[in-house]
Amino acid sequence: MSGPTAATCRHLIDVDDLATEEIALLFEQAQSFREVLHRPIKKVPALRGKTLLLLFLEPSTRTRTSFEMVGKVLSMDVTTVQSASSSIQKGESFRDTLLTLQRFQFDLVVIRHQFEGSARYAARFLDAPVVNAGDGCHAHPTQALVDAFTLWEAFGRFKHLNVLIVGDVLHSRVARSNMRLLTRLGANVTVCGPAQLLPPWLAEAFPNVTFTTDLDRALPESDAVMTLRVQMERHGKEVLPSVREYAATCGLSWERFRRLRPEGVVMHPGPINRGVEMEAAVADHPRSLIGAQVENGLLVRMALLFFLLVRPQGESEAGSAPPAWSERAESA
Ligand code: CP
Repeated sequence: MSGPTAATCRHLIDVDDLATEEIALLFEQAQSFREVLHRPIKKVPALRGKTLLLLFLEPSTRTRTSFEMVGKVLSMDVTTVQSASSSIQKGESFRDTLLTLQRFQFDLVVIRHQFEGSARYAARFLDAPVVNAGDGCHAHPTQALVDAFTLWEAFGRFKHLNVLIVGDVLHSRVARSNMRLLTRLGANVTVCGPAQLLPPWLAEAFPNVTFTTDLDRALPESDAVMTLRVQMERHGKEVLPSVREYAATCGLSWERFRRLRPEGVVMHPGPINRGVEMEAAVADHPRSLIGAQVENGLLVRMALLFFLLVRPQGESEAGSAPPAWSERAESA
C-alpha cells in the first residue's frame, strides 16, 4: 500500500477527529485551491498515483460528486461503488463488501451508509483513511466543515456569531456535526424545531447549544439560519404527521426571512425541498449561501484529501499558534 499504514492512518469519522489548528490549516488550503478550480484545465498532480474509493450505499449528489470531481482534479484514480449496482443487492453483507474492497488496497475510502457507526465499523476492515460521508443520523463531518468554512468566508469570525439551526434536528447528522464543530470554534449555536424533534436527551447531549421551539423569537437574534431537510425516510408519520405541518412550524417563509437582521444569511446543506424547509424566494435570495455551500464543498473536500494523504501523519505545522479566526475575532 502506498498510503499510510493502518496503524498510522487518519480517519475522519466526525469533526472531533480534527484539531482546531488543523481545521484552520484546512480552510487556508481550501482557499488556496479556489484558483485551481478556475483554471481552464482543472488538473494538478498533487495526488497522482493515489487511488480513491467512493462507497456510497445511500443516495447523494453533492458529497459524492464533489469528492469524485476533486479527486480527479488532484489526479487521483477514482472508483465509485453505489448500492444499486453493487453485490449488496445480491445479498453480500457490508462486512464482506469491506473485506473484498480492502483487497484492492485503495489509498483513501469515502463512505456513506444509512446506519450510525458504519464508517467507524468500516475503518476496522480497511488499511486506508476512512472519511465518513454521512452515517445515518450520527455525523456528516465534511458537510459541517463546508458550512463552517462558508460562515468563515461570509463573516470572518466565529466568536459572537449567532447560528440558528432549524428543522428536523433529531434525525440530522448535519445538525449534530455542526453543533459539535461550531460551538468548538466559538459560535453561539441555537437549534429550533417541533418539540417532538427536540427530545430532552438530545439537549442533554449538547449542553453548549440552546434548544428552543420558538422560531419567530429566535430569528431576529441570528446572523445565519441553517435550515435542515425534513428526513421523512428516517421516521414514520407518528413522529411528523405531514410536511405541511413541518413547513408551518419551522419552514423559512418570506415573512420569517424578513425578520432576520439586514446582514443575516440563510443556508441549507441540500438537497432542499422548496416550499417545505424554505420558500423558493428565500432560497434564491442574494443573502442565501446555498450555492456557495455547494462550491465550497469542492474546496474543502479537495483540501481534506490533500491533508489526509500528503501531510505528515500526527504533525501540525500550526503548532500552538491560534487559528486565524481567533485573531480576527480578537481584533473585531
Ligand atoms: N448535503 C449533502 O450531503 O448532500 P448530498 O446528499 O447530495 O450528498
